[in-house]
Amino acid sequence: MQHLFDSNISTNLPNEFIKEFPGGIELWIKREDLLHPEVSGNKFRKLKYNLLRASEEGKSKILTFGGAHSNHIAATAAAGKILDLGMTGIIRGEELEGAEDKWSPTLKYARDCGMKFEFLSREDYREKDTAAFMERLNLKYPDTYIIPEGGTNQLAIQGCEEILSREDKKFDFICASVGTGGTLAGLINSSQVNQKVLGFSALKADYLRNEISKMVKSSNWELLVDHHFGGYAKVNAALINFMNDFSKKHKIILDPVYTGKLVFGIFELVKQGFYPANSKILAIHTGGLQGINGMNRNLKKKDLPQIVN
Ligand SMILES: Cc1ncc(COP(=O)(O)O)c(C=O)c1O
Repeated sequence: MQHLFDSNISTNLPNEFIKEFPGGIELWIKREDLLHPEVSGNKFRKLKYNLLRASEEGKSKILTFGGAHSNHIAATAAAGKILDLGMTGIIRGEELEGAEDKWSPTLKYARDCGMKFEFLSREDYREKDTAAFMERLNLKYPDTYIIPEGGTNQLAIQGCEEILSREDKKFDFICASVGTGGTLAGLINSSQVNQKVLGFSALKADYLRNEISKMVKSSNWELLVDHHFGGYAKVNAALINFMNDFSKKHKIILDPVYTGKLVFGIFELVKQGFYPANSKILAIHTGGLQGINGMNRNLKKKDLPQIVN
């Protein structure tokens, strides 16, 4: 466990100043993407206490869930390889069974790390949180530590509470992308009462507000649902051009599913006058860059610009 979670890796990286907008509004980025080359961003935070718990329970096998492009699948596979754990990925999409030529770069990467897959139809996959499904899983995969889809559970939230450091108390707004809400919950729990935590939803999903409120202790947060570009993993040329322009100017690559939409959303809100003058904004770069190659394949098919990485 040492060589991933309590080694020389610094988990308190400095924030990078991005720019000052009119009205003295400052944008900074917390480079969580630089935490580790393969287990980066919120994945490092979410896996930390889960994999420590697996080790305490003497479990040398882990199992988790995800789609074909999932950052969580890639990071779990990388962590499992480093820690020499047996790994199973329950993957959405039965059409991928035995069709390796159709696999995403994410699945090929996870396989190369040593992850074995079980492919499920979308219908069966939807059942994965039911008691009956869990029972079957426990029988089929005994002595295995099960991590939920997206990695979000109480231990993941505990890990995400470590993203903010003492130096971050000076920020007025903490902004992060939201998938399941676990990362945002950790940020909310460790924020100061005078700070506002803004979640930028990557999905068209108002129910997330309710989910997040079950995971947090305070009310200094808001879920914004206007920057998902039509839904999960949906993109357009304006977003890709913004991301490419941003990475050229600031030497920071964003991903198209989460952090690209987050930073685009922050720029939009500045234009709309959402942030008061002299606000200091901290955006969390939660990683996820492994998904760019798979996205570029899809962009090519749709004749959209490529993401430069
Ligand atoms: C890069 C990246 N950022 C943000 C998120 C959203 O995190 P959460 O699911 O905790 O809301 C994810 C998804 O897990 C992600 O992969």
